[in-house]
Parts: sequence; structure tokens; C-alpha cells
Amino acid sequence: MTVASVYKQGWTMDDVHWSLFDPSRVDSAMLAAVKAAALVEYNAPDYVTYLKRVFASAGPQILASLEQWGREEAQHGRSLGHWAEMADPSFKLEEAFARFRKGYTPRHFTAAEDGSVRGSRRGEMIARCVVESGTSSYYSAIRDASEEPVLKEIAGRIAADEYRHYKLFYDILHAQTEPDISFWKKLWIAVGRVRESDDDELAFSYYCANVPPEKETITPYKRKKYSRLASQTSMTIYHRHHIQKLVQMVVKVLGANPHGWLANLAGALLWRRLSARSA
Ligand SMILES: [Fe+2]
Ligand SMILES: [Fe+2]
Repeated sequence: MTVASVYKQGWTMDDVHWSLFDPSRVDSAMLAAVKAAALVEYNAPDYVTYLKRVFASAGPQILASLEQWGREEAQHGRSLGHWAEMADPSFKLEEAFARFRKGYTPRHFTAAEDGSVRGSRRGEMIARCVVESGTSSYYSAIRDASEEPVLKEIAGRIAADEYRHYKLFYDILHAQTEPDISFWKKLWIAVGRVRESDDDELAFSYYCANVPPEKETITPYKRKKYSRLASQTSMTIYHRHHIQKLVQMVVKVLGANPHGWLANLAGALLWRRLSARSA
């Protein structure tokens, strides 16, 4: 496989046109969403450690591409966090991230075994493709919805990175020598990864990002409540076509036709579910 596209660092913090920031165009729901997204992105180094363990014998090219991927994800967190600090000077990325990290540790970050929690390297790459499909469409939606020029720029840059990450993991998936897994097993892994995000990751990042530390005692974390708030916020950003694109990318990873009946049905079902959850 080729990893040349991954080595090429797309952009740095200095490339962003920060001076164009326009506080009058900051939307409060968008700000809440961006703060939460910054924490999830900033958590990338732990994922790099885990993936490097899973792919320890995969060769230096893949390991280097995983390192580069992690650097890009951390930069997503840094740029979104910096934008949020400009939009709301009371927000502190490092402080909010420390709280998020303290309360949220996926089991595979601390698992002692060397293998993948998805059962195989292929499974691991399917799960990664699901995440990159989600982030790629989410940042496209933020880019399309934002009226604040700097956020529009950052979200556009990040969306392009996420799509490139999807292609990287798609290539690694198909470069594996281990036997292919069945469609149903792939579907199981993909659905499992979506459900994991339904767990604490999105709800708790939303909480840590939007409830300041001094209000923690009077506003304790409740998963259901913050999961609903996070969903409501993202549904003000998403449009139907972003969700369809997400589903098409996932369906392609499963080996089915991204423009066939499965993608259409899954897109309609997911849109309905997201709408219902945020109601
Ligand atoms: Fe990212
Ligand atoms: Fe990514």
C-alpha cells in the first residue's frame, strides 16, 4: 500500500487565518459542539499507542503513518480548542481535556493484551473507517453550517484530513494478509463502533466541554441528559445529505454498493434515529 499521502502534512496551525475571526458570527450551539469535538480529537495520542500495539509487526511504513495520523488528530483538537478559546475566553482546552481524560478511558487503552479489541486487524480498520466516516461528514456539516469564517476554514481543513484518514485505514484494511471476514461480522463491528460512541465518549466530552469545573457539583454528569444534549446540538448542524455520505462511506467498507439499496435504507434509518434521539 502507499502511505505517501499520509506523510504529507496537509497544514499547520500557522496556516489558519486566525485574524479573520469574527465574534459576532459565533453561534452558541456550534460553539458547544466544537468544544466537545476538540476534547475527543485531542485524545488521539492514546489511540496511536493502542493501534501501534495492534500493528506492532506491520512494518515501519504503517507504524509511521499511524504516528502521522495521530499528530493530525491532535492538531484537530488543538485548532478547534483554540477557536473555542477565542470564541469563549472562559473555555480552557487543557483544563477541560484533563477532566475528560480523567473520567473517560476506553477499555482498549488500558487493556494488557496485545491484540485488537475488535478481534482482528481487519476489524480494527473497519472500526477506524467508521469513525473517520463519521468525523469526515461531521466536519463537512460544520463547515457548511458555520457562518464564522475561521471555523469554516478549520472545519474544511479537518474534513479533508478525515477523508484522507478514511482512505488510509481503508488501504490498510485491504493490505492485510489475514483472512477476510464475513459481511455480517463486518456489520457487527461497524454497528458496535457506532454504539460505543453512543456510550460515554460523546456525552461526557460534551459535559466536560460545556459545564465549567466550578459548576460540576451543582450540575453532575448524567449520561442520558448529556447524550441527548450532544445529539440535539449535532442535529442543528447536520443535514440529511451529510448523513447519507457517512452511510455510503461505511457501506463501502462493508464491501456493499455505496449507492445501492442497503446504503439508502441505512441512511434513512440512521437519519430517523438521530432525529428521534435529539427530540
Ligand atoms: Fe480528527
Ligand atoms: Fe481522522
